[in-house]
Amino acid sequence: MKKHKFLWGGATAANQVEGAYQEGGRGLSNIDLLPYGEYRLAVAQGKMHYSEVPEGAYYPSYEAIDFYNNYKEDIRMLADLGMRAYRFSISWSRIYPTGLENKPNEEGLRFYESVIGELLKYNIEPIVTISHFDVPKGLMDAFESWKSRKMIAMYEKYAMTLFERFKGKVKYWITFNEINMILHKPFTGAAITVSEGEDREEVIYNAAHYEMVASALATKRLREIDPDAKIGAMLAAGDYYPYSSNPEDVREAQKANQETFFFLDVQSRGEYPRWALNRFKKRGIHVDITVEDQNILKENTVDYISFSYYASRTSKADTTDVDTNTGNAAGGVVNPYLERSEWGWMIDPLGLRIVMNSIWDRYQKPLFLVENGLGARDILEEDERVHDEYRIAYLKEHIDTLLLTMKEDGVPLLGFTMWSAIDLVSSSGGEMGKRYGLIYVDKDNNGKGTLRRIKKDSYEWFKAFLASSDI
Ligand code: BG6
Repeated sequence: MKKHKFLWGGATAANQVEGAYQEGGRGLSNIDLLPYGEYRLAVAQGKMHYSEVPEGAYYPSYEAIDFYNNYKEDIRMLADLGMRAYRFSISWSRIYPTGLENKPNEEGLRFYESVIGELLKYNIEPIVTISHFDVPKGLMDAFESWKSRKMIAMYEKYAMTLFERFKGKVKYWITFNEINMILHKPFTGAAITVSEGEDREEVIYNAAHYEMVASALATKRLREIDPDAKIGAMLAAGDYYPYSSNPEDVREAQKANQETFFFLDVQSRGEYPRWALNRFKKRGIHVDITVEDQNILKENTVDYISFSYYASRTSKADTTDVDTNTGNAAGGVVNPYLERSEWGWMIDPLGLRIVMNSIWDRYQKPLFLVENGLGARDILEEDERVHDEYRIAYLKEHIDTLLLTMKEDGVPLLGFTMWSAIDLVSSSGGEMGKRYGLIYVDKDNNGKGTLRRIKKDSYEWFKAFLASSDI
């Protein structure tokens, strides 16, 4: 039988699927403080403190889709589908409930050991994100999260615990999900609130620096503990196109691309780009970069670059007469050449070829597409079917594009874990109604539903596709 190498699979994140927020000794995390509804965006952007959310708010992470108590059934469904990889994240506060403990929570470790055991039983490769929008509340209380250098040691301790426990079982690690999300939603990305009087840019770049040093230290530790494993950066990717050939628009797009690639420049090349250092100086921003940090960053660059791709972005210098409502945290303006999802996100399969080439041209490290999919309002029919032909079309176009990019442009891709293996809580809106899954979960935006799992048409389509894939 042919041994397949390409890691076709699906992805989720602890905070969006697990629920059981107080079971197994788990502590609270930043995500448990993000309510559904009108205050979510302000809290996510770090503009409103979570403690100001009026009482009675609904917090979707508390139960999510209760993967914690259903993982065996869920993983079996992924195995039946023929998935070869499953990307998931570990909830930091299940392992270190406040983040501050010296010893890990054994029950938390046992849970993930069991999840990984289930996956390996079905020959599904676990791809593990160490922190997917996830910081224990104890670390927010003690240090204001990534505003403090002390977080580096906390993260290193946590990562080492995982490496030691799952050595030989997990071959692919990712340090931080969408590390550049900190620019757009610092509370979601890094549990940071920017207080009045603080320089937003200074706070964000300092926190990003500490995360990148922590990521490099984790890389160092993994190489000591499990030299056969690989560790990657993860970027919310999508090129910024110039709105027109007006050089002002081209320059605007270039700046936005540089700000995005900034993170990979540091994590993959091991150095700060010059434009950034000059910008910090010009703006009088102090970023706490020590010589020791610089050495750590230089000596411990990532093995591969993972990324999410949902849409390209478009930049325009003068936005007065165009639509800026892109529906996406990455900003920009609406691209008139593209169709859009129900949430206004651009749909641009060719943009995947463009971004894969952009990343490969810059870094020449293997790529891993760890998120791509379509959020849509699915309808559960009376016969318990979900006819999501729009999702099938979206996935097919993106898969055709990635295959072409590998074949014609020679861009190496380790795998593709689509978003999301199963319906889950949306990160931006906190709603269940924005569904990405191949498996439908019966639950609505207000938390009502039986939680039963139902295969969508896209599940059957992906299953047939995987059975016929020759890579
Ligand atoms: C990425 C995240 O930003 O996009 C996921 O890594 C998220 O956590 C996904 O769910 C889709 O975004 P949303 O806001 O539609 O859930």
